[in-house]
Amino acid sequence: MTGSGIVTTHPIAQPTPDPVPAGSPTHTPDTPPNADTTASADPRHSALVTAARGGRARHTPVWFMRQAGRSLPEYKKVREGIPMLESCAMPDLVTEITLQPVRRHGVDAAILFSDIVVPLKAIGVDLDIVAGTGPVVAEPFATRADLDRLPALTPEHVPYITEAVGSLVAELGPTPLIGFTGAPFTLASYLVEGGPSKTHQRTKALMHGDPELWHDLCARLAQIAGTFLQVQIDAGASAVQVFDSWVGALPRTDYLRFVEPHSRAVLETVAGQVPRIHFGVGTGELLADMAAAGTEVIGVDYRLSLTDAVQRTGGAYAVQGNLDPALLFAPWPVIEARVIEIVEEGRAAPGHIFNLGHGVLPDTDPSVLTRVVELVHSLG
Ligand code: CP3
Repeated sequence: MTGSGIVTTHPIAQPTPDPVPAGSPTHTPDTPPNADTTASADPRHSALVTAARGGRARHTPVWFMRQAGRSLPEYKKVREGIPMLESCAMPDLVTEITLQPVRRHGVDAAILFSDIVVPLKAIGVDLDIVAGTGPVVAEPFATRADLDRLPALTPEHVPYITEAVGSLVAELGPTPLIGFTGAPFTLASYLVEGGPSKTHQRTKALMHGDPELWHDLCARLAQIAGTFLQVQIDAGASAVQVFDSWVGALPRTDYLRFVEPHSRAVLETVAGQVPRIHFGVGTGELLADMAAAGTEVIGVDYRLSLTDAVQRTGGAYAVQGNLDPALLFAPWPVIEARVIEIVEEGRAAPGHIFNLGHGVLPDTDPSVLTRVVELVHSLG
């Protein structure tokens, strides 16, 4: 899948620009995670994993949610004529698409090219991803009988994930691969609404109208999400992100009662294995609870400053974020000033991973993203 049109400004095997002085010691597995002073071939000693574990990396690591995708012409080219969910089950294509932003931008991590609904499709849920809309479920979840359509996920359901992660880890060398899953609430929202929703009205009606069924649904989804993460870790992912993208729609009391125990179960499945990142949009009011649900890194969207995020989570967690993706359309001096500000704010946290506050918008000029990476790295 490495045909023409692929930009190769950043060789995959050398993502870290800092030179290693001759004779420098290399890390051993016993090296404390915050002792990140030399380059290492092991992604466990990368800037990203170091920052995620609350250590000071040689530079602030940076990656972008949705870094692989429609902002890249090379992505559009290789995806031509292949439906989204089909592409997710093609390991060679997944490998190529996942590597594209690493090559082009020199980001500090790759994120597996897949989707939060892939494990649902894998267990037999009839759904599709419609371009410009998102996931659409043929028969939305409504009754107890619908639980029968949600069997437990096993690694055998997703052999193409194991294969893609394995080949990616080999290609990436020292660059860490981030695995991910959707959290139970966000997955439930797609299943119950039948597609994207601004109001989450059916989801909230089920949650409050039949709490027992809601909890049974979320328990199933937690098993699926936890196993999906475990498959990626077993195949070599160096960190994981749990996307609870739409949970900001809930008040705190509902989050704690109806959602947190299930998100906690997902995070607990992979505790102590690789650093975990827990992210949602518009979650300023939930941030302390999302952090306490069991994570090393709390993802922060662009509505809340990193300073406030650190304060709200007691300075006990690494933070990830949080440049507004829409600001990438502003003149460069505006972007530059904001990036500098965010990196400075991030220094108050035990560790900081620079990212956007949500995903890259499809019309984004990719050269601006590359420039942001260079700027973040230059700030040390
Ligand atoms: O680069 C990456 O971030 C890795 C790949 C990735 C995709 N989806 C690929 C994708 C990841 C991490 C996701 C997660 C995902 N999927 C989330 C959580 C992240 C977030 O944005 O909050 C959610 C909510 C989904 C559901 C989903 N899938 C949406 C809302 C969409 C966009 C619909 C559209 O066309 O605008 C998708 C489709 C999707 N997932 C695309 C990509 C690259 C676009 C499909 C295409 O190129 O045709």
